[in-house]
Amino acid sequence: MNAIMNDIEVIKTTSSKIKEVDFENLSFGKIISDHMLECNYKDGKWQAPKVVPYHSIALDPSSKIFHYGQSIFEGMKAYKDANDDIYLFRPLDNFKRLNISAKRLAIPELPESYFMEGLKTLLKVDSDWIPKKEGSSLYIRPFVFATGNGFHASPADEYKFIIACAPSGSYFSGKVKVLIEETYSRSANGGVGYAKAGGNYAGQFYPTQLAIEKGYQQVIWTDDNTHEYIEEAGAMNIFIRINDTLITGPTSDRILDGITRKSIIELAKSEGISVEVRKISVHEVVEAAKNGSLKEMFGAGTAAVISPISGFGYHGEDYELPELEHTYASALKKNITDIQTNKCEDPFGWRFKVE
Ligand code: PLP
Ligand code: COI
Repeated sequence: MNAIMNDIEVIKTTSSKIKEVDFENLSFGKIISDHMLECNYKDGKWQAPKVVPYHSIALDPSSKIFHYGQSIFEGMKAYKDANDDIYLFRPLDNFKRLNISAKRLAIPELPESYFMEGLKTLLKVDSDWIPKKEGSSLYIRPFVFATGNGFHASPADEYKFIIACAPSGSYFSGKVKVLIEETYSRSANGGVGYAKAGGNYAGQFYPTQLAIEKGYQQVIWTDDNTHEYIEEAGAMNIFIRINDTLITGPTSDRILDGITRKSIIELAKSEGISVEVRKISVHEVVEAAKNGSLKEMFGAGTAAVISPISGFGYHGEDYELPELEHTYASALKKNITDIQTNKCEDPFGWRFKVE
């Protein structure tokens, strides 16, 4: 059935997969919903987006995505409340960041209405795919990549913007043990670390595999220049609690300006928690672990929300974090997910109703 919703053309699938999905036992990002938003850039402009059945795409082997990695993405979530109303969390921030990434990768920026109206239409078409179980959500993956052809090392002249959705459960199953990285870097001054460029993640896989072989689950990235300062936790921003103060590093061109990070900073402050946004050295964290003032470390990001860290390795030594009864991590996680899922007031105006 074809239809026009919010000025976006919709072509619906004739063979929904939804009955095959066990919504009670969802893993993260493996099952994809029935439809996707698809929008092509050609002849110097973004063409009208469409919601279409989820489908494979054929690309010419000389497409520039394969050779020069012009590829960017976002990560968002949709939630359904008890009345079946659909909510997003600060979606315009994801849209703006997608265009920040686009600019850095010489990809043409997207019009806001294509992103927002396209996303809203897709969510309404696939609304039955939004899980209601606590801890589950519809993970949304907007992405843009070069489809234009040729081996010349220059930006492509054609691109594809897709939004695909995956009903998902939690990203990590428990606390994670991390390794503070002393050799490899995720990003560098003047580089693309602040963009959500696909290549940033490809570059993380090998050092993370080495850490996994040593018995850790994630890498804590340090600054590329000295490896003395803590920057990010895998594909998350990082928070460190020393005594009762929550510390996170300032954003820079090496660090992703996380939407969860900035929300946690505001939420924690509104709860009366002392928050410091400043450089934090590995030395300070190791000393705090030794003298007992290191109380918590956690990663923050859309996929994992808040991911508590059980301990870290550094210079061949392992340091355990204490098991506290009441943690900032669990209190802040409850605060943010209650706002996201419409279980409490939203004094910040972050929740966005899809209608
Ligand atoms: N840092 C990196 C490298 C990420 O990939 C992500 C995930 O999106 C984050 C931080 C957290 O950002 P956000 O809270 O906007 O999801
Ligand atoms: C997210 O948190 O949404 C991310 O994009 C991280 C991802 C690599 C799973």
